[in-house]
Amino acid sequence: MKIDGKPFRTIWPAASGGSVEIIDQTKFPHRFEIVTLHSTADAAHAIKAMLVRGAPLIGATAAYGMALAMQEDASDTGIERGYQTLVVTRPTAINLKWALDRVSAALRPVPATQRVAAAWALAAEIADEDVAINEAIGLNGLPLLEAIAAKKGRVNVLTHCNAGWLATVDWGTATAPIYKAFDKGLDIHVWVDETRPRNQGASLTAWELGRHGVPHTVIPDNSGGHLMQHGEVDIVIVGTDRTTARGDVCNKIGTYLKALAAHDNGVPFYVALPSPTIDFNVDDGVKEIPIEERGAEEVATMTGLTADGRIETVRIVPAGSPVANHAFDVTPARYVTGLITERGVCAATRPALAAMFPERAKAAA
Ligand code: MRU
Repeated sequence: MKIDGKPFRTIWPAASGGSVEIIDQTKFPHRFEIVTLHSTADAAHAIKAMLVRGAPLIGATAAYGMALAMQEDASDTGIERGYQTLVVTRPTAINLKWALDRVSAALRPVPATQRVAAAWALAAEIADEDVAINEAIGLNGLPLLEAIAAKKGRVNVLTHCNAGWLATVDWGTATAPIYKAFDKGLDIHVWVDETRPRNQGASLTAWELGRHGVPHTVIPDNSGGHLMQHGEVDIVIVGTDRTTARGDVCNKIGTYLKALAAHDNGVPFYVALPSPTIDFNVDDGVKEIPIEERGAEEVATMTGLTADGRIETVRIVPAGSPVANHAFDVTPARYVTGLITERGVCAATRPALAAMFPERAKAAA
């Protein structure tokens, strides 16, 4: 996507070679800063501290992290060390393990002298694939929005967290159909859940929709149900960090409540699902997906821009009050109207997913 007319991805190899550049998402929306990753440790820190986040971008960063790992040690031990350093950075998004499995399996048969070049090429391939997958999701989701527009004119979409281009290498997943619809001239408006505690909606989704000119309104997380009851939401589209073989969808905390409200109000609830986010080894999302628990400070404090331009963090919870911070939840497949994948839209069921991605389903069986 473009920032002030200049095309950007969220991650790219540095022009000087040997390192990787990312946009530091912890500074959004107040500062735009590019950070260079020089080592496996830098890549691991960027994922863990959420300088990069969003399932597909976590996967792409891990792939580039393996290229950095090969520069440090291209032996079999180096592959293992890079893998182990990166795989533990965040537990929920399956794209992390998917990318690391793919890169390490591809590197093992390559002679050690050629592994650095091979790893850089693979990381670039994974990044390019992500862009193509997301653009296809955009094209496959577009008819859903066009059908609403044909019936009633303005299309009101509700989205949660940031499943936008900042969460991927480019395009986004949930936002890809929105960008396609907007670029085609549809009258589209997006309700953006602020997404406490880290405010990915307010800070990231609002920023990128605004930069692209897409009409949007940021709402507190609890507003969605009310808006649905009053006919103000035509469709919900969210991303996912891991979707199971039977179609249970794990995504940012609060997604489940939006799905319940959508179900109660007859609002279609779609999930934009790139195939690397499917975990065919897992069935029951509620029981089997590890849910990341993050630090109390994310809930107990808020960070923002002061009137005189400083970024400050303030406490909003009484000192001493215990805090819980579960980062993701699982929406059972029965509440999901459909999955928008790069190969088309399918039902959130085991047979539909297996028919859409037979090679992945077979490999896991
Ligand atoms: O904790 P985050 O910001 O990494 O969570 C991101 C989400 O939950 C996204 O919705 C998901 O990764 C899909 S991104 C295309």
